Amino acid sequence: MKALEGIKVLDFTHVQSGPTCTQILGWFGADVIKVERPGVGDATRKQLIDVPGADSLYFTMLNHNKRSIELNSKNETGKEVLTRLIEECDVLVENFAPGALDRMGFSWERIQEINPRIIMASIKGFGPGKYEDCKVYENVAQCAGGSASTTGFRDGPPLVTGAQIGDSGTGLHLCLGIVTALFQREKSGRGQKVSCAMQDSVLNLARVKLRDQQRLDAGPLKEYSQFGEGIPFGEATPRAGNDSGGGQPGRILKCKGWEQDPNAYTYFIIQAAIWEKVCDVIGKPEWKTEEGYAKPPERLDKLNHIFETIEQWTMTKTKFEVMDICNPHDIPVGPILSMKEIAEDEGLFATGTMVRVDHPERGEYLSVGCPIKLSDSEVEVTRSPLLGEHTTEILSEVLGYSGDELERITGSGAVGEIKAEAAE
Ligand SMILES: CC(C)(COP(=O)(O)OP(=O)(O)OC[C@H]1O[C@@H](n2cnc3c(N)ncnc32)[C@H](O)[C@@H]1OP(=O)(O)O)[C@@H](O)C(=O)NCCC(=O)NCCS
Repeated sequence: MKALEGIKVLDFTHVQSGPTCTQILGWFGADVIKVERPGVGDATRKQLIDVPGADSLYFTMLNHNKRSIELNSKNETGKEVLTRLIEECDVLVENFAPGALDRMGFSWERIQEINPRIIMASIKGFGPGKYEDCKVYENVAQCAGGSASTTGFRDGPPLVTGAQIGDSGTGLHLCLGIVTALFQREKSGRGQKVSCAMQDSVLNLARVKLRDQQRLDAGPLKEYSQFGEGIPFGEATPRAGNDSGGGQPGRILKCKGWEQDPNAYTYFIIQAAIWEKVCDVIGKPEWKTEEGYAKPPERLDKLNHIFETIEQWTMTKTKFEVMDICNPHDIPVGPILSMKEIAEDEGLFATGTMVRVDHPERGEYLSVGCPIKLSDSEVEVTRSPLLGEHTTEILSEVLGYSGDELERITGSGAVGEIKAEAAE
């Protein structure tokens, strides 16, 4: 049995944030029914195309374990079918622009009227307030949530990060809200509305930077390199380059081969507890007792010199050798892994974190599997659905339409062109 078996999800999501959420629900066993505009579908199907004529990796990697129904939710018959889906489903997830669902005639009040047990989960860019009507994408959220102003180097512009903390990060937050609401429904019998704003989710992930903002009132942030370099702090949490966020000095250092390989680097942290081991490993045993080096506060104004010295050592080793030498001493280091190295890491395939998926249009592709492991609910990653692949199946099996009624609906234009069943 899968954890969410029996839970039906009306997946009205598109692009990245919402689909990330419903994909996780699907991995945990929910029946995820993706509602897509007839003939068009989720816009990502046709974005960043790499195999002509096939759904893009953008779409296929965010929509595993789902079924697809084409449905025009603005057409009268389409609204009738959507109403039936709302009646049947436990959860409705959407990330339309603000007001879009209301414009379709499906306000939260109306949805509750149709099914008081339903949980309606929404992602918007901003919460209630002056920006609530804005359309928002990933990098807008990274900027508005405090991440960009605190990412990058002090002497450079703000930077966005490659990890999709605005989209996928918000999808994860929404997912937790949904399962929590399902849990509450067990006792209350009632559904509720779950809302996540992308700005709020990014801010939640950038929480330590708000911590530092408040610490500034008490003086400079001593663990930032800036302090050791004697550069005054301004009014806001500055960008900290590659300094580690937890108070222990850390940097990204070159390793053997860095001249050719842009990822021949390691992260290196010098925690107080392992300082003596670091000194021994890099061939500077005298720093263990030398005044100016022996105690953590004395080292703060010498961090550039200390890390340059460590780097002279890391440059003689590959990033993996640094790992092999430092780990037995509990010195925290981390190789900078390229996406190529990750894609070839059989260890990640063994745990199911990376998966190979077969697809009728594009053949085999790599994807990230479920990163959350439940010991009693195994995840089998299945391919994303083709557009409208399950339209008839959902109309008949889930909604119970048959005979003339089914013909009326399929002939109405509300559910697109009916395709031959599953092309697999
Ligand atoms: C992502 C986003 C910016 C995209 O905007 P967009 O491409 O213009 O898409 P919208 O959500 O506005 O939807 C466009 C229209 O399609 C309509 N539509 C969607 N599915 C439909 C269907 N099955 N049948 C008929 N109409 C449909 C919507 O009702 C909307 O119509 P309206 O403008 O008349 O109200 C916007 O959806 C948004 O801000 N979402 C919330 C934040 C978010 O999740 N952002 C991250 C995305 S990764």
